[in-house]
Amino acid sequence: MHPPPLLAPSILAGDHANLRDAMQQVENAGASWIHIDIMDGHFVPNLTFGSQTVADLRPHSNLFFDTHLMLANPADYIEAFAKAGANLISIHIEPDYPIFETLHRIRELSCQCGIVLNPPTKVDDILPFLPHVDLALVMTVNPGFGGQSFMADQLPKVEVIAGERKKQGLDFRLEVDGGVGPTNWQSCRDAGADTFVAGTSFFKSENPGGFLQTVES
Ligand code: DX5
Ligand code: ZN
Repeated sequence: MHPPPLLAPSILAGDHANLRDAMQQVENAGASWIHIDIMDGHFVPNLTFGSQTVADLRPHSNLFFDTHLMLANPADYIEAFAKAGANLISIHIEPDYPIFETLHRIRELSCQCGIVLNPPTKVDDILPFLPHVDLALVMTVNPGFGGQSFMADQLPKVEVIAGERKKQGLDFRLEVDGGVGPTNWQSCRDAGADTFVAGTSFFKSENPGGFLQTVES
C-alpha cells in the first residue's frame, strides 16, 4: 500500500499575528492538508497554539487539519482538539501514558489517529502501534522549532516502517516532519514516505504552489 504523495504545509512557519492569512496561503497554493504543531513547553522547549486557535481557524477552511500534539500529557487534550475540528490527531510515543487507549479514543471521537517518534527513539518502539493508526510520523529533527536541519540519518526508520506496512498489508500514511524541502523530499519518498510536512521550505519559498505540485504530481 502506498497512498498518493501529499505536502502538508506547517502553519508554524506562517505569521502568528495572522494565522488565518497563513492558512489561506496554504489553501491558495492548492494544498489539501495543513500541519498544525501544538507544543506545551514541557515535552518540547517551545509553546505554540492551543485548541482555541484550532477552533477559530476551523470555520475559515476546509483543509484537512493534521494536528501534531507535542505534549507531555496528550491524553488530557484529545477531546479538546477533536472538538476544535482536528481531522487527524498525532501523539508521540515517548511520554508515559496509555497510548493504545488514547489512539482508540481519538478514533471514537471521529478523528484519524497518528503515532510519532523522535530521532532518539528506536524504530522498534513504534511497530506495535502500526496496525492501529492512520498515520505514522518519523521526526527528521528534534521537535520544538521550525527551520532546523533535516536529519538524513532518520531515513532508515522510514524504510523499516514502510517495509512493515507492506509486509502486513497496512494502509496508514507515512509522514516525515522537520527540515523537509525541495532538496530532500525525494529521498524521503524513496525511503517510503508519502506525506511531507514543510514549514520553512513552504512559507519562505518564492513558488510554494510549484513545490506542492512537484510533490503531489
Ligand atoms: C517541529 C515541528 C514541525 C515544524 C517543521 O517541531 O513538528 O512540524 O513545523 O518546520 P520546518 O519544516 O521548518 O522544519
Ligand atoms: Zn510537526
